[in-house]
Amino acid sequence: MKDITRLIRHKISAQDAKPVSTPIFQTSAFKSGDPYFYTRKSNPNFVEVEELLCQLEEGKKAVLLSSGMTAISATLHLLSPGDRLLVNKLIYGCSYRFFNDFCEQFNISLEFADLLAPDGLSKLDTGPDMVFFETPTNPFVKTINIQEISARVKKVNPKSLVVVDNTWATSLFQKPLKFGADLSLHSNSKFNGGHSDMISGIAITNNAEIGEKIAAYRFYNGCLPDPFAAWLLRRSLQTLSVRLERQIKSTAIIAEHLRQNPLVDQVFFPEIDGKQLTNYGGLIFFHLKATSFETVKTFMSKLELFDEGTSMASVTSAVANPWTGSHLSMSEDEKRSIGLDEFVIRLSFGLEDVEDLISDIDSAFSAIKS
Ligand SMILES: Cc1ncc(COP(=O)(O)O)c(C=O)c1O
Repeated sequence: MKDITRLIRHKISAQDAKPVSTPIFQTSAFKSGDPYFYTRKSNPNFVEVEELLCQLEEGKKAVLLSSGMTAISATLHLLSPGDRLLVNKLIYGCSYRFFNDFCEQFNISLEFADLLAPDGLSKLDTGPDMVFFETPTNPFVKTINIQEISARVKKVNPKSLVVVDNTWATSLFQKPLKFGADLSLHSNSKFNGGHSDMISGIAITNNAEIGEKIAAYRFYNGCLPDPFAAWLLRRSLQTLSVRLERQIKSTAIIAEHLRQNPLVDQVFFPEIDGKQLTNYGGLIFFHLKATSFETVKTFMSKLELFDEGTSMASVTSAVANPWTGSHLSMSEDEKRSIGLDEFVIRLSFGLEDVEDLISDIDSAFSAIKS
C-alpha cells in the first residue's frame, strides 16, 4: 500500500477499548446501515441523551434537536393550515414572536390567553388543536396547571395536543407527560447544559407517532446538534441534580433576603405544590422600586458576580432585564399587556457561595440608594 493510501485509511479497531464514558461519535456517516447510517438521522451521542430524558419524564420517544427554538418549531409543524393554536400569554419573547410569524405564514389561527384566569381557561372549551404553555412561565415563574388544562381541552377535542415548555422546571422536578401533556420541550441550553457553553433542545413525547414525525422533521430539515454538543449535554446531565441542589438552596435564601429589601416591590417565585412541581431553584424575578430605567441599569452594572446578558441557568450567576433582553422581540404594548415593565429584573443563581452573592447584591443596592 502506498504511503498516501496508508495515511488516509489506517484505522484501529476500538472493539477492545471499554471506555467508562461514552466517546464522542464525531462522524457524519456509519458503515453499518442499522441502527445508524447518517448522523443527520441519528448518532449514539444523541440516543444516549434521548433515552435518558425519556426515562426521566416517562415518555416513549425523545428527539434531540439543534436548539430549544427548534423543539418549538418542530412541534408547531405538527399543525396543519386551518388549525387553531392557543398559547399562554406569559411566554419567552422569541417564542411569542415566532408563534405570530409562523401562524401567519402557515394560516394557523393563533390566540393568546391568560391560562391562570377563568376567561382564558374558558378558551379551552373551544377545543383548539394545540395548547402551548411554559410552566413555570418566563417571565414571572407562574405555575400553570397541566392536568386541569389537558383534561379540559381533551374533553372537547380528544386530539388536541398539549405542549409544555419544561425548560425552567427541568425533568427532575416536573414531568408534564404524567399530567396529560402530549409533549414536553426543553431548551438544553439552560439547566440541562448548565454551563452556558452549548445550545440544543429536545422534544419528549408519550405518543410514538408524534415522536416519529418529529424525528422525520429533524432528518429532513437537518436541525440536529453537533455530536460534541450532545456529548457535552450528556456530561452536564450527570451533575444536574447536584447543581440544582445548590441552586435551590441559594435561590431560597436570596429570595427571602430580597423580600426584606425596601427597594424591592415584589419577588416572583413559583408555587411548589409537591405534585406537579416538586422543587424549584435557579431563576427568579423581582420588581425594583424605581422611577427611572437608569436605576435598573446602574443596579445591574454594579453587580460583579452576575454576568449581564442572555446567560442563565448556568454554573455562573447572571442578571438580565427582560424588557430589553429576553422579551425584546415583543413591542412595548405587548410587554405591558403581560404585566412586564422595565423595572423587572431576572436573577439566575449559579454555584458561587451564597454569602458572596448576597454581599454582591447588597453592594449593588447600596449603589442605587446613594
Ligand atoms: C423557556 C424557554 N424556552 C425556549 C427557549 C429557547 O431555547 P434556545 O435558546 O435553546 O433556542 C428559551 C431561551 O431562553 C427559554 O427560556
